[in-house]
Amino acid sequence: RTLDDARDLGGKTALVRVDFNVPMEDGRVTDDTRLRAAVPTIQRLRDAGAKVALLAHFDRPKGQRVPSMSLEQVVDELCEVLGAPVQFAPDCVGPEAKTALDDLAIGGVILLENVRFHAGEEKNDPAFAAQLAELGDIYVNDAFSAAHRAHASTEGLARLLPAYAGESMRRELEALDKALGTPVKPVLGIVGGAKVSTKLDLLKNLVGKLDRLAIGGGMANTFLFAQGVDIGGSLAERDMADTAREILAEAEAKGCEILLPRDVVVATELKPDVETRTVLAREEIGDDEKILDAGPLTVEALVKAMALSRTLIWNGPLGVFEVPPFDAATVKAAQAAAQLARTGAIIAVAGGGDTVAALHHAGVVDDMTFVSTAGGAFLEWMEGKPLPGVEALRA
Ligand code: 3PG
Repeated sequence: RTLDDARDLGGKTALVRVDFNVPMEDGRVTDDTRLRAAVPTIQRLRDAGAKVALLAHFDRPKGQRVPSMSLEQVVDELCEVLGAPVQFAPDCVGPEAKTALDDLAIGGVILLENVRFHAGEEKNDPAFAAQLAELGDIYVNDAFSAAHRAHASTEGLARLLPAYAGESMRRELEALDKALGTPVKPVLGIVGGAKVSTKLDLLKNLVGKLDRLAIGGGMANTFLFAQGVDIGGSLAERDMADTAREILAEAEAKGCEILLPRDVVVATELKPDVETRTVLAREEIGDDEKILDAGPLTVEALVKAMALSRTLIWNGPLGVFEVPPFDAATVKAAQAAAQLARTGAIIAVAGGGDTVAALHHAGVVDDMTFVSTAGGAFLEWMEGKPLPGVEALRA
């Protein structure tokens, strides 16, 4: 159910779960993407004459009132992004929250203190969910990026009040469905990152769904090793070789073509502007050399695969993009994807913390068809797992 299904909102209090778990430095928000993501829902509810009470978590205070994890520190930034005043209540339940909400004007916005200051939040304690429910008339979940958590404010509350997906949540689910649920085929996936072990379920799910899957980053080393390639001193999970072979066999059985690096950029140590060599992956890696990026032939093959595809789903960088020159493959591939997405040739969807940072680094984050605001939730969705916060909205 979305906000289109919510009627007669005038004078009602909407409890809106947002994700304001934003990066901060010295008390300042360094990336306001998640604040901006909440604006359409807040605005729509205000326009409908509702009172808007925002519920959110920040960091992991584990049921304790930790002052450095107060959500009060995002209020000024939120006012700026929203272009309207935002009040703050020092608790998210109880008499203080209740009075603040009673006093809130129609169309007013209030941010309630960190829900994780109460142990009942992460335990999904029904009593805590009921305390939250007392404060509002309807519940709106606009926090896709927290939807993998079955917590009181993301799951329990949806069962106690009329519950709706907010605008950001709706957009996110629609985009993700287009990429993996009912995609325009052929579909290409790019999965990178350091470790196979953290993305096992994801790889297993994807090989059953994609036409092609390019594996990059440190995890590609494990696959090369599993195929008997001498990867020298490269980072790899050598004990995962059997698992890597199983994934390759499953991909073959399911008709998913796997693209592994053909050539790689190696160096004897990982530091900026170190001397590098570009070599064929299967032939020439020295014992003391580490694979730190994919090479140009690999990027060329990847760009060709993109051109053959109608949908691209991307999670994880192809090399150690934080340390130039090992950002080259990720940047070139990202620019190629952006170019195809700009012309409408492919639907390009990306997500996950590192991936978004890599796309920012390549200067193309706004050119992708859709970039998810989620980290863990995006991964669990790619693994094919039901997300409790989304499921509760369907019930
Ligand atoms: C995130 O930042 O990915 C979400 O807000 C979830 O945060 P958590 O991992 O602390 O539950």
